[in-house]
Amino acid sequence: MNKKLLITGVSGMLGFCLARNLSNNLKNNYDVYGTFNRNLVSIEGCAIYRVDLSQRSEVEMLLQEITPDIIVHCAALTNVDLCEENHELSDAVTVASTSYLQSYCKKNSKKLIYISTDAVYEGDSGNYSESDLPKPSNYYAQSKLKAEKIVRVLPDSLILRVNIFGISPPGHGTTLFEFFYSNLLQGKEIPGFTDVIFNPICIECLPGIISEGIDNSIAGVFNIGSLGQISKYDMGVEIADYFGFDRSLIKKSVSADFTFKAHRPTNTTMDIAKAQSRFTHRFKDIKTNIRSLSEKLQDKISGEENADKNWKQVYWR
Ligand SMILES: NC(=O)c1ccc[n+]([C@@H]2O[C@H](COP(=O)([O-])OP(=O)(O)OC[C@H]3O[C@@H](n4cnc5c(N)ncnc54)[C@H](OP(=O)(O)O)[C@@H]3O)[C@@H](O)[C@H]2O)c1
Repeated sequence: MNKKLLITGVSGMLGFCLARNLSNNLKNNYDVYGTFNRNLVSIEGCAIYRVDLSQRSEVEMLLQEITPDIIVHCAALTNVDLCEENHELSDAVTVASTSYLQSYCKKNSKKLIYISTDAVYEGDSGNYSESDLPKPSNYYAQSKLKAEKIVRVLPDSLILRVNIFGISPPGHGTTLFEFFYSNLLQGKEIPGFTDVIFNPICIECLPGIISEGIDNSIAGVFNIGSLGQISKYDMGVEIADYFGFDRSLIKKSVSADFTFKAHRPTNTTMDIAKAQSRFTHRFKDIKTNIRSLSEKLQDKISGEENADKNWKQVYWR
């Protein structure tokens, strides 16, 4: 009998990519199930359930019905400013959901893979390793760290501290990468922060890394990112150059020029040496990863299914 893999948040950027890839790649060994809350998606080979993960009864019903062997928990309240405004909601979605899933895994000896964030680090000096003490600078990251602590109780759990750049599911929001692409395409001027530095991984790398985590029973906390580092301004320039857009549309700015409800850390770069030594995945440098996603985006744009992509919803994470 196939093992059952449950991915939460398959209507989000990462969950969608995982469900789509793992439904194909693991299909001989796993039946893949996914959850969404507000935004229905359809993914070939993945059974989709609508669940509000902040509601214990809904989570318990789901788990009773599916009885998953492995859970990859991607869903969270990712709107950083909303988390700052509403701590209760942030904890209800991000922390409580994790505790319900953790209880199930603990009781039934099942594996939990938790997607955490580079924002658990203080975010001023950069080059953080897993042994550095986390010090979240906003409430979103505090909730993510609380959830991590719940997951760590399970000895074979896997926690991946990520920053990701990618493409959103069709019709669902706009990522930072798409923000640059869509505005440059329309010839609009946009700010590019020169002081915000990170080393995000290309979303397309994560299905392979998570599959490895499942197949090789990798446990513990790992930073997952690209090699090197880049500012948000330079990321915009890389995208502009790849697509032949006017790079002067990206105006150099610093995050202090803008007022956000939640504090944004400026340097969350992570040392990924531990992941490099444990995973066989060949981590690439950030510019190679940007080019590789740009190729994907180009394919996606030329595909008929996305001819009407709505580029309206623009926000900054
Ligand atoms: N994107 C990044 O750069 C980044 C960086 C660091 C860490 N992460 C972490 O990576 C994970 C995935 O991020 P992402 O960017 O893919 O997120 P995303 O696109 O914002 O998607 C969030 C997902 O969570 C679901 N969700 C929200 N509230 C829910 C609720 N009450 N009940 C059930 N599901 C709920 C959403 O469902 P609906 O849309 O259907 O409501 C959606 O599927 C998150 O845990 C995030 O903290 C992301």
